Amino acid sequence: MKIKILTIFPEMFAPVLGASMLGRAQENGLLSFEVIDIRPFSLRKHKNTDDDPFGGGAGMVMLAQPIVDAMRFAMGESFRGRRIYMSPRGQTLTQRKVEELAKEETLILLCGHYEGVDQRAIDLCIDEELSIGDYVLTGGELAAMVVADSVARLIPGVLGCEESAQTESFSSGLLEYPQYTRPRVFEGLEVPEVLVGGNHALIEDWRFEQALRLTLERRPEMLRGLPMDKRQRRIFNRVMASREQLSDGQSDKSALIPSNEAENRVY
Ligand code: ADE
Repeated sequence: MKIKILTIFPEMFAPVLGASMLGRAQENGLLSFEVIDIRPFSLRKHKNTDDDPFGGGAGMVMLAQPIVDAMRFAMGESFRGRRIYMSPRGQTLTQRKVEELAKEETLILLCGHYEGVDQRAIDLCIDEELSIGDYVLTGGELAAMVVADSVARLIPGVLGCEESAQTESFSSGLLEYPQYTRPRVFEGLEVPEVLVGGNHALIEDWRFEQALRLTLERRPEMLRGLPMDKRQRRIFNRVMASREQLSDGQSDKSALIPSNEAENRVY
C-alpha cells in the first residue's frame, strides 16, 4: 500500500512516519509513505497557498490551484485508490472505516489549514472527507497521521503478530480485556490467578467476561447486536444477572440483547 500526504507542513511527518512500527514497515517494503509539499506547486509569485475568502469572513482559504496540481502529481498516470480530505466536517473515522481503507492500493490524504480549502479543489479531486472526531485541530496533519497509523497497522506483517490486530478493542466488537506481564506481584497487586493457570479455555472465558464488563460499563451501546457463540452468551447472561442483582433489577437488559442470527459465530 502507498500512502501519500499533501500538506503545507511536510516537516511534521518525519518523526511519526519514520519511527517505530511505521518506520520498520517502510524499511521492510510493506508500505510506503510519500509526503508531498503543496507550496512548490503554487503558481503565485511568492508561492502563496492561501487567500481571503470571497464573501468576507475571518481567516484564509487554501487556494485550489496548488492543491489540484499537487494532487495530479500525487496521482501520476494510472491512479487507483482513494483521495481523502481530512476535515472536521467529514464522516467520523471508525475501525470499520480503517479496515475498508486498508484494502486500497493507494491513499492520498489532503491536509487542510486556515478556514478550509477552496470548495472547487474538493469538487475536482476528493473522493471523501474524513474527520477523526468532533473537535477542531489547527490543521489536517495530525488527523492524517492518525489515518496513516491506523491503516498501516492492519497491513499484514506490520504488527508482527496478526492476532493482536484482531483481538484488540473494536475489532472484536468489545473493548479490550486487561493485560498483565511480569512480575506476578507488583506493589502488592497480583496478576489474576486464571492467567497463570495454563487453562486456555478458562483464560479465553475470563478475557471475554472482562471485555464484556468493561464494554458494559464504558460503551454499552457497542453491545447492541453483538454476535456471540453459545459459550459467550452463557457468560453474557451470567454477567447481566449479577449486574441485575447488584442494581436491584434496574438495569435495562433488553436494550443489550445480542442478535440471534450470528449466534454461532466463533471468534
Ligand atoms: N482538521 C481539523 N480538525 C480535524 C478533525 N477533527 N478531523 C480531521 N481533520 C481535521
